[in-house]
Order: sequence, then C-alpha cells, then structure tokens
Amino acid sequence: MKHIKQITNEMLQEKLFFIPTMGSLHRGHLSLIENAKQFELKIVVSIFVNPKQFNDSNDFKKYPRDIEKDFDILNNSKIDYLFTPDKEYVYGQNFKNIIHSGSIGKKYEGKSRPGHFDGVLTVVNRLFELVQPRKAIFGKKDAQQLFLIKQYVGKNNLDIELLEGDIIRDSNGLALSSRNQLLSDQGLVAATGLKRHLDTLKEEYLQTRDVNQSINYALEQNKDRNLTVDYLHILDKNTFSKLTEETTNAIIIIAGYVEGIRLIDNIDFRVEI
Ligand code: PAF
Repeated sequence: MKHIKQITNEMLQEKLFFIPTMGSLHRGHLSLIENAKQFELKIVVSIFVNPKQFNDSNDFKKYPRDIEKDFDILNNSKIDYLFTPDKEYVYGQNFKNIIHSGSIGKKYEGKSRPGHFDGVLTVVNRLFELVQPRKAIFGKKDAQQLFLIKQYVGKNNLDIELLEGDIIRDSNGLALSSRNQLLSDQGLVAATGLKRHLDTLKEEYLQTRDVNQSINYALEQNKDRNLTVDYLHILDKNTFSKLTEETTNAIIIIAGYVEGIRLIDNIDFRVEI
C-alpha cells in the first residue's frame, strides 16, 4: 500500500476504484474494500474528515480519529493507495465550488444538520475531480447521503459508476458506525433501539398501511430514556419523499441521540400493492 497526500499523474493513468471515508475504520469499511476487490481496478481509500459537512464545530472536534489504527487495518487489507489529503490540497485558498443539495438535502438529516449535505456533495465532487475514479462505493447506512450522491452524479452525467455497500450490523443489530466508538457499554445497548424502531415501524406499517399511526406506535413501543429520537420517517426510497400509490420500494430512516452522540440507521423493503 502506498500512502499519499496528493494524487500523482501516474495514478491518473490507472483505473481506480475509490472508497472515500472519514477514517476510524470498522467492518463496514472493510466490506466496502471487499466489494472493490471483485474488480480489476486499483483501490484508493481516502481518509479526510471534511470540515464542510459539520454544521457543529464541536461535532467536528469530537469526530473519532485514529490514523495509526486505520493505517494498520488498510495495510492488512491490501489496498493500493491510502490517500490522506490536507485541507489545503482539497480546498485550496479560494475554493468556491460549493455544491447545493437542493430540496431533499434540506429535509430529515439535512433539517437537523443545516448545510451538511452541501458539505458532503462539495467534498465528494472535489475528491472525484482529484481521484478521477472509474467506480466508487458508498455505504447504505447513510441512505440520504447515498440518494443525494446518486442524484448528483446522474444529473451531472459524471462518468463514474456508483456501487452501494450493505449496512453491516453487530450481533445486537446495531449498525456499525465510527461514532459508536464514542459510546459507553450502556450507550451501545441503548443504541440498539434504533433498529428496533425500524423493525416495529415496518411490521406495523405493512399491517395497517397507516403511516402516522405506525410511527406513533413504533415510538411508543420502543421508548427509552437513554435514546432520544430526532426523526423517524417512512419514505419512498426512489424519491426520498412521502409514500404514494406508485411506491414500490420504501425506506424507513431514523436519527437519534445516545449520550449526546448522533446516530442514524435505516431499512428498506418492497411494498406490495
Ligand atoms: O460517509 C462518509 O464517511 C462521508 O460523508 C464521505 C462520503 C466520506 C464524505 O466526507
């Protein structure tokens, strides 16, 4: 594995598979790497904690970082390049190319974290410009992020094939996330409530087909003073908007706080008409 701070012309001659991350790697990231290995492409993993996607400077400061552990993990995973750019290299001095995430970017996660998705699209677009990959992969855990990146790549006809990595969960159903490291043992138990909300809502919705009633039921059934739910929605997966008569794929998204740490999760499923 080569550790680089800047992309070289030599690299741009190669066919690259890109895995952008913010580090503090876990099994979810490893599964993205496994996915990438199916292809005859050179694998580039970036680690860059992007300040533009944090609306709260405290959250940016607290975001877990462990470059030495990440380095060992990636070295053992036999990727080709670890790319850890500095902020100056990514954004330069007069950076202006802010990408706006539109109306969906202001809802759900974007409503609670104003500007977050503009920051995500801005860095993803910039990293794509630098790395110029053939393919890139993003995890499904950040469902709204994935939706917006796919929308952006599609609208702008970017010549990059996007792949989606499955959510990896621990044995209690908790979706793996770098932020889980910030939780105590008790917090990790409370965090498993996110997935229970999703499962209860799915089951109740499929039985009643009543969105509001099902959401209230899921919230009531899974009440826990150690988990504060920020939002719980059931949406059309293809539009990230309300369910309609035409909906065939639904997604349930949740965000909540455990011990002051923001966590998100989702499940998707087919809706039989
Ligand atoms: O999902 C993440 O880790 C980040 O949002 C991403 C896509 C690497 C952009 O900073």
